[in-house]
Amino acid sequence: MHAWLCSNPTGVDALEWKEQPTPQPGPGQVLLEIKAASLNFPDLLIVQNKYQMKPPLPFVPGSEYAGVVKALGESVTNLKVGQHVACLSGTGGFGTHTLAPTALCMPLPNGFPFEDAAAFIMTYATSHHALIDRAALKAGETVLVLGAAGGVGTAAIQIAKAQGARVIAAASNDEKCALCKQVGADDTINYTTQDLREQIKALTQGKGPDVIYDPVGGDFAEPAFRSIAWRGRYLVVGFAASPTVPTLPMNLPLLKGASLVGVFWGDFARREPQANATMMQALAQWYAQGRIKPVIDRVLPMHELKQAYALMGARNVKGKLVLVN
Ligand SMILES: NC(=O)c1ccc[n+]([C@@H]2O[C@H](COP(=O)([O-])OP(=O)(O)OC[C@H]3O[C@@H](n4cnc5c(N)ncnc54)[C@H](OP(=O)(O)O)[C@@H]3O)[C@@H](O)[C@H]2O)c1
Repeated sequence: MHAWLCSNPTGVDALEWKEQPTPQPGPGQVLLEIKAASLNFPDLLIVQNKYQMKPPLPFVPGSEYAGVVKALGESVTNLKVGQHVACLSGTGGFGTHTLAPTALCMPLPNGFPFEDAAAFIMTYATSHHALIDRAALKAGETVLVLGAAGGVGTAAIQIAKAQGARVIAAASNDEKCALCKQVGADDTINYTTQDLREQIKALTQGKGPDVIYDPVGGDFAEPAFRSIAWRGRYLVVGFAASPTVPTLPMNLPLLKGASLVGVFWGDFARREPQANATMMQALAQWYAQGRIKPVIDRVLPMHELKQAYALMGARNVKGKLVLVN
């Protein structure tokens, strides 16, 4: 097998494509032949030693992937050789094979392409947990999505629309705004050329969005919160814009009777596995019904991983990047 090895977490340049012995699966594991893997924001941080999880060295990055089960570890009974699965295990995906923990594998129904499957779990689980569980989004409400053309952002647009909400998508350029419209957004705001607060006011007749989905943080967090509707819910999803976490004056939630709501899908999945499994089933059903579908910017061969990293680092991806073997 081959894999991208991170022996020195100083950044993408230090990654090396290396041949390795194909490992044998242990108890609770399967050997997977990887067909597709997608890039998530934590993949960018983990190879720079900037992510909260710091795997022992050397490790193979690649949080999310899909492929075919080739061998079963001892006492594995829930998966079969030849079965197609998607997995989000945090590492291991940027290679030709990996040992996947069976507890984290999602068996794929017939007709679920590997490229969609590799770009599915992280973004849709995060956005569904955020909008439906944490914000209790209702049909007819208005959602503002920041960083709306990114991975979790495009999933948030689709999920909010599937729930019957109105979506205002905000992004940094016109191409990204156009993509958000194609994905289903009702209105868009280009927050580089337009004033965010004025546009929110104009698009909501002064009322403000009921829910704000924020995976970006940075300088727009406070102005966005100031624009939220009465009883609004502001979803703190991530801080793609900067390593500095934004702060908020505590009078702002008081003035709007609004809530600042934390979203941590990974811990939700660990702490509430049954609720997470039910949610994943609902998402698979929405996928089968055509209500959601990963937005894939481009598909690159696995050996072009460094180019994929460069595109994401330069804020140049619309939806998801997928690497294939
Ligand atoms: N809480 C959770 O459970 C959870 C789960 C998954 C992901 N996340 C977090 O959500 C965030 C987004 O993840 P993602 O996979 O959707 O990433 P992504 O596809 O790269 O999207 C991030 C978006 O943030 C915007 N952005 C603004 N400033 C940026 C900068 N300096 N660098 C990069 N992007 C910048 C970009 O949109 P514009 O150019 O339009 O501004 C970009 O499209 C990350 O912080 C990630 O860690 C959280």
